[in-house]
Amino acid sequence: MAKIVAGVGTSHVPAVGAALDNGKTAEPYWAPVFAGYEWSKAWIAREKPDVVILVYNDHASAFSLELIPTFAIGCAAQFPPADEGWGPRPVPTVEGHPQLAWHIAQSCILDEFDLTIVNKMEVDHGLTVPLSLMFGQPDAWPCKVIPLAVNVVQYPPPTGNRCYNLGKAIARAVESFPEDLNVQIWGTGGMSHQLQGPRAGLINAEFDNAFLDRLVADPAGQAAVPHIDYVREAGSEGIELVMWLIMRGALPEKVTEVRRFYHVPASNTAVGHLILEP
Ligand code: DHB
Ligand code: FE
Repeated sequence: MAKIVAGVGTSHVPAVGAALDNGKTAEPYWAPVFAGYEWSKAWIAREKPDVVILVYNDHASAFSLELIPTFAIGCAAQFPPADEGWGPRPVPTVEGHPQLAWHIAQSCILDEFDLTIVNKMEVDHGLTVPLSLMFGQPDAWPCKVIPLAVNVVQYPPPTGNRCYNLGKAIARAVESFPEDLNVQIWGTGGMSHQLQGPRAGLINAEFDNAFLDRLVADPAGQAAVPHIDYVREAGSEGIELVMWLIMRGALPEKVTEVRRFYHVPASNTAVGHLILEP
């Protein structure tokens, strides 16, 4: 049977991708960010996941204000990197896992979580930067990836609790897939940041660290936190953090925190990272 063997949380700061793509990782500003992922890169090289379910948000690259699914699952065989204005990132095409993706779609929809089925989609920094942080710059990504796009761009995003319960439904789906697969689930985005308006540049390290603590130890409590608290404390883009609750919901109540990293600043935000094992 397929099994969820770990959860990963990570920020997706686009400037991190640009630093990698332009050979700037050793610069004093960026070196501490990439150093924070060295342990994780060694960990994942040992873990060798077959599939990563990558929960992320699209930033008006694949979707736009014309079409805004709350939860969308990528069922395609391939997902090319999107052109976000500077040309597509020079990263490998993402290879999907259509059989498992369709199984998750079926299982979740019959379990009353109506995922939008996506058969053709480009993926932006929200998905490719986490892959780069965890795998570096390989010629091909070393595992299959199932994109799970969440709307956190246009109000109203899903509640933290809805995300947490979707994670549980995804776990039920994975555990009923007959093939032996080593599956990880990643929650990405955040930490606190606000990109526009008078509070642009907001970073709240106290909120971020309390979020990480509570996500690990009291996920149901964190899931009950309303949007307005994220927006007030963590800025308008801090709401991206609800996506981490999908990852957390897919893991058991008790987890082991095998890795945590937190660094300020990177571009307009903090970089946060967790690895959790059942
Ligand atoms: C920044 C962060 C994001 O999460 C994003 O999607 C875009 C920009 C930033 O720090 O500039
Ligand atoms: Fe973002």
